[in-house]
Formats: sequence, structure tokens, C-alpha cells
Amino acid sequence: MKPIAEILGKTSLDRGDLIRVLEADEGECGPLLARAAVVKRSGVGGRVYLRGLIEYSNICSKDCLYCGIRSGNAAASRYEMTEEETLAAARLALERRFGSIVIQAGERDDAQFVARMERILRRIRALGGGALHVTLSLGEQSPDTYRRWLDAGAHRYLLRIEASSPDLYRKLHPEDARHSQASRLEALGALREAGYQVGTGVMIGAPFQTAADLADDLLFFRDLDVDMIGMGPYIEHPDTPLYTHALELLPPRKRLELSLRMVALLRVMMPDINIAATTAMQAIDPEGRERAIRAGANVVMPNLTPARYRHDYLLYENKPCLDQEPEESVELLEARIRESGGSIAYGEWGDSGRFLARKS
Ligand code: 5AD
Repeated sequence: MKPIAEILGKTSLDRGDLIRVLEADEGECGPLLARAAVVKRSGVGGRVYLRGLIEYSNICSKDCLYCGIRSGNAAASRYEMTEEETLAAARLALERRFGSIVIQAGERDDAQFVARMERILRRIRALGGGALHVTLSLGEQSPDTYRRWLDAGAHRYLLRIEASSPDLYRKLHPEDARHSQASRLEALGALREAGYQVGTGVMIGAPFQTAADLADDLLFFRDLDVDMIGMGPYIEHPDTPLYTHALELLPPRKRLELSLRMVALLRVMMPDINIAATTAMQAIDPEGRERAIRAGANVVMPNLTPARYRHDYLLYENKPCLDQEPEESVELLEARIRESGGSIAYGEWGDSGRFLARKS
């Protein structure tokens, strides 16, 4: 078998290379982390960009088999933040000089929701005079909705493909027209067309997933020429259909390790994109996000959701920081990033270098 260092010396990694690295023993992976660190420094520099995360609502029309806020989960108690609460969270991000926020929610495409979001976006833009950049993570919408939200002030959009393999996608979602991978791919195309910085991602260590699937996910990101990626370990949720497969999963520590390896490989493949250190990584290891930063990530999303809603935005088990008010978790995070040798880019938008390069 080829040594990892030799594979990483190639100008372009192919499917076989990626599978080899994903399946390597932990002890073999030193050269991967070292290479990712070098590529990161020249590709995006050493600073970490912050996005204040606002979990706007857990009301969802989808029924994804892995997700705790799926419409079929009657045990979830549903909420939607008010406009004023959302604006207050955005104001907190401005005061903290985060530069950017992410508004995430379950998927809804009714006219009332679309209009409310449009109004919120306009108010956020007015609030900071454009000082805050806004990422949306609100699922599949029509091209018209994407355009309206962009016109109202959104800049970036995250829509995870969840699994690039059509076969795996089918196993993770109900088999109906509302959950088709084809329409998700179309939505990603519409986002690019509309002019967003486009992000996608997958869950890592999901039931039925193989190393070849993950290699294909990385190649998918490269072929799509994405601007940003958010990916993290799959974590089982007891009130979901896929919980019956919990015993077949890799142990959580291994799922995190695999996620860090995916981050490092992607950084080597795509030097100038934004890669998030995701909350699910922190759910497995309190140091998970810092480890992701060391592996190649350059974006962290401190949670700004008011504490009383956090217990209800449960996509998976053991979500961290459920009892903290926003101010507290931000302070913890700042200290941790400093400790792990990173420095925070305060007051900067942190737009994707890949996006800016493509436009110029
Ligand atoms: N484990 C990990 N990530 C999950 N997500 C949803 N459910 C889970 C889970 N059980 C992720 C999906 C979705 C994002 C908002 O959260 O990838 O896109």
C-alpha cells in the first residue's frame, strides 16, 4: 500500500487515493494533518471567521429519517422565534463584531414564511447598514424565493446534499417526491444561478455509508466547485426511524475522527473555500471544533439562539450548550479558539475566497 505522504504529493487526488486515506489507520495520518495545515495557511490564512447561529424555527415539512425535528416526530415541541427575537439575536452578533450570521430552520415553503423571512432580512440589513453578512440554511425553495431573499439582503446559502450517492440518499430519506435528491441538486443549481455563495455538505458516519461514498462526496464538492462546506458526524436521535441502526455505527470517537479526516482532505483539495467546524463535532468531543480548526476548518458558528428554544432544536442527541444564554457560550468559544492558537477575525464578513476569485 502507498504511504499517505506519497499520495498527498500528487497534484490531484483520485477516488482510489481518497478511499485509501479514509481507510488508513489513525497512526498513518500525521502527514495529512501537516499537509492540510500548510494548504490552509496559504489558501485562507490563519484566522477564524464567526457566524452567529440563529436557530429560527424547528417547524419542518420534511421527514428525513435521521433528523430529530422531522415532521413525523410528535415528541418535538415546535417553536418559531418572533421577528423581534430574531432581530435581537442579529443585534447581539453586531455588538460582538461577528461580521456574519446564519439563519437556520426546518424547511417550509409557504407564502407566509417566505414573506416573513424576506421582511426579517430587510430589517437585518437596515440594522447594521449592511455590516452583517447573512447566510441562510432554510432548505429547498423555488428559484423565485431564492431571488427574493437574495434581494432582501442574504449573501450565502447552505444546503447540504446529505449524501451524494443516490443510493445512500434514498436510504436516509422517505421514498417520495418531496425527498428527491434530484430536486435538491436542482436547488443547488438555482442558488448558484441566483448569485449566492453556495455551501453544501454531508453527514459522516451515517448508517449504510461506506468510505467510497465519502470519497465520492469529496469529489462531488470539487466538481460542484462549492464556496463553503459544513459537514459533521452523524449522531443518532432516539425519536427517528434510523435509530434502529444505532448499534451498527462506528463509535462516536471514530465518527469524529473520520469527520476531521474529511475536513483535512477537503482542505487539501479545495484550498480557498470556507469550511465550518460544526456543532455536531463539538457534541462528540468538547474540543471537537478546535480540532476541526487544526484539521483545516476556518469558520465557527457560535449559537445565538435564545436558551429557551435550544432544547427544542434537537437534530440529534447530546447537543452541546443547551442551558447557556448566548452571551455565555460566546465567551467560552472565544477562549477556546485563543487556546488552540487561532485568532478570530472580528468584524469581518469572511466571504469565501473561492467565490471572490470566481467573480473577479
Ligand atoms: N446527526 C447529525 N447531523 C444531523 N443533521 C440532521 N440530523 C442529524 C443527525 N442525526 C444535519 C443535517 C442537516 C443539518 C441542519 O443538520 O445534515 O442538513
